[in-house]
Amino acid sequence: MSETTEKKLIFSGIQPTGTFTLGNYIGAVRNWGPLQDEYNCIYSIVDMHAITVRQDPAKLRQNTLQAYALLLACGIDPKKSIAFIQSHNPNHAELSWILSCSTQFGELSRMTQFKDKSAKHADDINAGLFTYPVLMAADILAYNADLVPIGADQKQHLELARNIAGRFNQKYGDFFTLPEPFIPKAGARVMSLQDPQKKMSKSDENPNACILILDDKDTIVRKFKRAVTDSESEVCYREGKDGINNLMTIYSVVTGKSLDEITAEFAGKGYGDFKLAVGEAVADHLEPVRTEYARLIEDKAYLKECYTSGAEAAFRITRKTLSKVYRKVGFVDAR
Ligand code: TYM
Repeated sequence: MSETTEKKLIFSGIQPTGTFTLGNYIGAVRNWGPLQDEYNCIYSIVDMHAITVRQDPAKLRQNTLQAYALLLACGIDPKKSIAFIQSHNPNHAELSWILSCSTQFGELSRMTQFKDKSAKHADDINAGLFTYPVLMAADILAYNADLVPIGADQKQHLELARNIAGRFNQKYGDFFTLPEPFIPKAGARVMSLQDPQKKMSKSDENPNACILILDDKDTIVRKFKRAVTDSESEVCYREGKDGINNLMTIYSVVTGKSLDEITAEFAGKGYGDFKLAVGEAVADHLEPVRTEYARLIEDKAYLKECYTSGAEAAFRITRKTLSKVYRKVGFVDAR
């Protein structure tokens, strides 16, 4: 990737806490590949974020490699974009410290993800869980990214990143670009198949609530067949029909059909037919990702080559940012 072109810069990241979910895919990763021609893109497997909740080290290592392979399988081309593992570039953590000194305790305590996660992990409300959004701000600001493609649940963190950047700029003079969220119109919040009031999440205790993008076809179809809907029978997008609305959105994204076309397609048919069609469409849509993943995960040497050169490129860009930041805050030059 050229570092000197006029193209806008995109940064996004995903945690390696297991296989990506259909929510991760539809809300974020699916959109990352097509952006590569128009923008300079940087994508990261954010393993440092993952340890804010307890991880088994061997499993984390395995999940991180799998997530990296999955990222490429989802269409991220390491020749076009920078794709790297967060912990391979120490500049993120270093910038995070500086930015934490421009972040207020009060604003971190208002983060809904912190409230949710600290309720879920009440025995381990560690400082990293609390300052996590500062590291996320550092991820983005270290590259002076213009746009950040994310699902709706990350919007609050992005707003905080903008506030931190703005505060730093006020204190030290204009420096950071204020990043804009890039949230898809459809599928920004894919809901649980078992409780359509809740977002789909890999940490859900009920395995039927969540589609993993490496699930095989039978599993995907079975999970959709069991999806919670409502007591009506009409396939149409309407307030109060959260389960059906969610399934229609998913079906629309993977088939390219509009909501009206979907309603017409299933007029007079029951929810059973609809759920089967959604399951099959999702499984067929994900088939090429699964095939490509199976190929890539066997080629550890290639993956290593890609993530090593990705980290080198990421390091070069962010070291420049950090040197300028150090000068701005008043640190004495090391050389
Ligand atoms: P993470 O790993 O939880 O999720 C990765 C991306 O998937 C989106 N997403 C969803 N979109 C729609 N419906 C859902 N049910 C759903 N679940 C997850 C998320 O919005 C996200 O875009 N803090 C981030 C990772 C991160 C990051 C960054 C993102 C770290 N640094 C810098 C952007 C820029 C996170 O935990 O995402």
